[in-house]
Amino acid sequence: MIPGPFFYRVKTICNPAAMQRQAQRWKREGERVALVPTMGALHAGHVSLIPRARKAAGVNGIVVVSIYVNPTQFNVAKDLRSYPRPLAADKKLCYAEGVDVVFAPKSLYENDASTTINETVVSLGMEGESRQGHFRGVGTVVVKLFNLVLPTSAIFGEKDWQQASLIRRVTRDLNLPTRIIIGPTVREADGLACSSRNVFLNKSERQQAAALWQAIGLARAAVHNGNLRGLKRRLIHSIEQQPAAKVDYVEFFDEKMMRPVKPMKGARMALAVFIGKTRLIDNARL
Ligand code: PAJ
Repeated sequence: MIPGPFFYRVKTICNPAAMQRQAQRWKREGERVALVPTMGALHAGHVSLIPRARKAAGVNGIVVVSIYVNPTQFNVAKDLRSYPRPLAADKKLCYAEGVDVVFAPKSLYENDASTTINETVVSLGMEGESRQGHFRGVGTVVVKLFNLVLPTSAIFGEKDWQQASLIRRVTRDLNLPTRIIIGPTVREADGLACSSRNVFLNKSERQQAAALWQAIGLARAAVHNGNLRGLKRRLIHSIEQQPAAKVDYVEFFDEKMMRPVKPMKGARMALAVFIGKTRLIDNARL
């Protein structure tokens, strides 16, 4: 017999107040809780964070995956509207990966909400500059999720390095009692970082999208050979050899302080590139 959807059910909480009551019960019982915050449309990158959450929570602890497409971090309305939302498939995947609870609220904001998290150093450049207000939305929703799930640990992906740095900073600055863990970037066979936005690429764009990872490879080789003259310009040129590619930014920075630096070994490179209409980001240490 092929098992029906009934057999795949993961415990799902949709009501924020019910989530917080459950979290408070876990706290009283001394449970370790690990949270993986996501916007759903789960792929191998998200899935790789679940075993890390399990390790942090322990076999008897609780692993929570939150699925919420957070409106306040989208600065383009169409991007929010078209964001994929395959909730049933996501829940099935969570069940298969041994997640204990999926937290999938419909809404997390009061209509007249007027309080936000405003970090003023880590969130300024790169994604913060290209997507005005984005990190205010991310910081705010993550603090709200932490207050609802009360996690002992929370797991974020290296794929969004600036986001992970922002969360580290907010957690430190506001004394949030949650340990931040960062998992490595999961890639497709040609090096393209897994992303929920990859589904928007047509076949030709999908092939061209490998240019981001290739640029990281070129930068690593240049740093290794000491061939650094005009490196940024050369990288942009090589990416834009792909007909559908338009570079938004390529930056080199100190990965702790998030300050711009010259390209060198140990520096981190981040880039954002439009492939057709789809904006992709990636980063890696050189
Ligand atoms: P989302 O883009 O769904 O990503 C959820 C988590 O998965 C993030 O921590 C992200 O860095 C990680 N991730 C995405 N692709 C990855 C990959 N290829 N390898 C490893 N990890 C990967 O990031 C968000 O959602 C939101 O901003 C959120 C933090 C949930 C706040 O709304």
